[in-house]
Amino acid sequence: MRALEQNLAVHSYRAASVTRASTRVAVLHLEPAGPTALRYRAGQYLTVELNDGTLRAYSPATGMQVDGRLELHVQLYTGGRFSQRVEQGAHALGLLTVRGPFGQCVWPNSFDQAGQAILLATGTGIAPIRALLTDALTAGKGKDIRLYWGVASRDELYLRDEFAELEQRYSQFHFVPVLSRESSGGKVYVQHIASAQHTSLAHAWVFACGKPEMVSAAAKLLGEGNDLPASRFFADPFSASNTLPRADASASKPADIIPTLTVNVTRPGSRYPEPLRVRADASLMQALRDAQLVEGVCNGQQSCGTCRLTLPRVWFEALPQATRAEARLLRALPGAGPHDRLACQIALKPDLEGMQVLLTESPRLIL
Ligand SMILES: Cc1cc2nc3c(=O)[nH]c(=O)nc-3n(C[C@H](O)[C@H](O)[C@H](O)COP(=O)(O)OP(=O)(O)OC[C@H]3O[C@@H](n4cnc5c(N)ncnc54)[C@H](O)[C@@H]3O)c2cc1C
Ligand code: FES
Repeated sequence: MRALEQNLAVHSYRAASVTRASTRVAVLHLEPAGPTALRYRAGQYLTVELNDGTLRAYSPATGMQVDGRLELHVQLYTGGRFSQRVEQGAHALGLLTVRGPFGQCVWPNSFDQAGQAILLATGTGIAPIRALLTDALTAGKGKDIRLYWGVASRDELYLRDEFAELEQRYSQFHFVPVLSRESSGGKVYVQHIASAQHTSLAHAWVFACGKPEMVSAAAKLLGEGNDLPASRFFADPFSASNTLPRADASASKPADIIPTLTVNVTRPGSRYPEPLRVRADASLMQALRDAQLVEGVCNGQQSCGTCRLTLPRVWFEALPQATRAEARLLRALPGAGPHDRLACQIALKPDLEGMQVLLTESPRLIL
């Protein structure tokens, strides 16, 4: 189970520059400060480590560069821990530990010069979408590529000139800016515009990056209204770090009426399980992350694989089957075994009392 660790290498980077792209977005350039650079595909993401070991996910805005430099588009949140350091400039960032790559939001091999693609982005979700776009255009792929970029107002379209130039150069590319707050008829959303402009998307590929609400609404709308098969939808929802939305209203229940159960956890390299008492109202990933045993970098969106674990056969068979999305990610992770699952897809219930899990070597355990 060491394959994942070897594959997801750790690199040292130095902040080379920070520039403002718009009021609330900064462009951060990083350059390798050690012997190795991150190897990734356009559309994948990385993590940056903060001083206390917690992580933030960011998606490079270009494909891999020959000099190993990375371009990140950082949404600046008031009080955001990484945001604040970026706002202070390159000198405040110093040396950064970067890990990756994560995610499967990449062009499938079957996307060729005859392919149709719909690219949906909100805010800095444009970063991985821009990397995917330039990758396809320079490789001569795609007969029809439409980009829908949603922001609140015109001054936030910081890549508008670049996309206008690409439209001039590549006849197969069309850019549709969507200004959610500047429409006279109320708020407009990228997924609504894309859905209205196409009858069937049965043979298209759709990529969606940015607000989690947009990503889930787009999957539903384009699936039900435009015949888009789930296997042709690729997404990275940009959720806030370490905030897993609770699946039900039990989050608001007083702690003393939330049922609990014991999960027996065997750490990597150990032969002995340790009992862990957890609340039975969330996912197993959340419980393990609260205990600082897994990272759960993508907040349960089935894109990072950092919550993968192995179950004894009896417990594996006691769980509902993995969905296609979970099985797809498990297949893509190096070294995956037949009884592996993603902890973020296991809902804890009292009848899982005594469940045994074996933690695998993750890219990094917060221990
Ligand atoms: C797979 C993936 C890829 C990502 N790629 C990018 C990227 O390329 N560019 C980018 O700007 N962001 C990206 N994000 C989101 C980014 O990792 C988070 O927004 C991160 O929490 C910001 O860190 P921070 O330290 O500045 O703020 P934090 O200290 O984490 O948060 C401070 C406060 O800011 C608010 N906040 C933070 N993030 C969000 C959010 N995403 N949505 C709503 N409110 C929020 C919350 O109120 C939070 O309490 C990505 C996330 C994921 C999961
Ligand atoms: S938390 Fe990312 S795959 Fe489970």
